[in-house]
Amino acid sequence: MASIELRNLCKQFDKTIVLRDISFTVREDEFVVLVGPSGCGKSTILRSIAGLETPTSGEIWIGGKNITNMQPRDRDIAMVFQSYALYPHLSVYDNMAFGLKMRKISSEKIDKRVKEAAVFFELSELLNRKPKQLSGGQRQRVALGRAVVRNPSALLFDEPLSNLDAKLRAHTRTEISRLHKRLKTAMVYVTHDQIEAMTLGERIVVLKDGVIQQIDTPLNVYRKPSNKFVAGFIGSPAMNFISGARINGAFQAGALNFALPSTLVSDCPDRITLGLRPEQIVVGTNSSSKVGFDLNVDVVEPIGNELLVYGRIGEQELVVRCDPRTEVVPDSRLPVFFDPSAVHYFDATNERSIVRD
Ligand SMILES: Nc1ncnc2c1ncn2[C@@H]1O[C@H](COP(=O)(O)OP(=O)(O)OP(=O)(O)O)[C@@H](O)[C@H]1O
Ligand SMILES: [Mg+2]
Repeated sequence: MASIELRNLCKQFDKTIVLRDISFTVREDEFVVLVGPSGCGKSTILRSIAGLETPTSGEIWIGGKNITNMQPRDRDIAMVFQSYALYPHLSVYDNMAFGLKMRKISSEKIDKRVKEAAVFFELSELLNRKPKQLSGGQRQRVALGRAVVRNPSALLFDEPLSNLDAKLRAHTRTEISRLHKRLKTAMVYVTHDQIEAMTLGERIVVLKDGVIQQIDTPLNVYRKPSNKFVAGFIGSPAMNFISGARINGAFQAGALNFALPSTLVSDCPDRITLGLRPEQIVVGTNSSSKVGFDLNVDVVEPIGNELLVYGRIGEQELVVRCDPRTEVVPDSRLPVFFDPSAVHYFDATNERSIVRD
């Protein structure tokens, strides 16, 4: 077990800067998820930790040792890729045993470790098969098993579930969670799927354009996003945003006009973006402390456990998450309200959250 620490990591390919001043620490038993849109630099961070990419500047420390210039094979780290990268001519057993054989570990020990991993990943019946005789999910489990048998001091995952169907994804996600509980090794997991990030990560690092936007627990990232990007990226359906202005202590945007919470008014900018999570808009009529309006309903999506209602207030499009029993049809008006002291506000100029006390 070892902690991983990135200190002011920067990476440039030719003239393009892809990582800017990346610093964070993964405790020796922590599960950290890197999340962000395609191209934001997630894989580059992971590959730098593994030693497959050389940082332009900055340092990487593992277990209190500066390993920035150490060869990948000396780093005691295992990495699982999206593409599995199994050896096609080797059996499942030999795929898992390969790294151990290279390390000259006794065949008894290898056999014990491979069989243990096979039990954990439900591969015991498949040990003699070749990768091409396996389903995608089984291949991915072999890749996970191969990483684990090495007993590495840290495990890195680069979108390991993205080739799996939804059900298998959910299943393997739970397996990875169980794996972490069992091994208690530092794990860094890359994904662009915010559900994976929220469910797997003890802490989440949200990235955009090679810059860290926020590092926090999943719930804090959801409840207290540092800026509009994080607020919009984490949560599905995404947060609704309404641009408006602060006029005499009130928020004004078209038909919406309400007094801003008193905790917000003191140093609030003039141009504000209001952020409403789909579940923060509630069906019903307004009570005194709430802000009510009519939603012009366009589309109703019953998903079983919830109902998503897409509509408009003026020109502004909104999505509302409702109880599945809500009676609502397209082309109607749905009375809704929200609590202005519970929703989100952003500085429209720099997109930072306006933090309330
Ligand atoms: N070898 C390379 N040469 C030049 N540019 C590169 C190289 N590798 C990556 N990049 C660029 O660096 C940026 C970050 O790439 P990276 O693979 O880290 O993104 P990512 O967040 O993992 O994206 P995805 O979710 O699509 O996998 C991208 O703009 C990419 O085009
Ligand atoms: Mg990637």
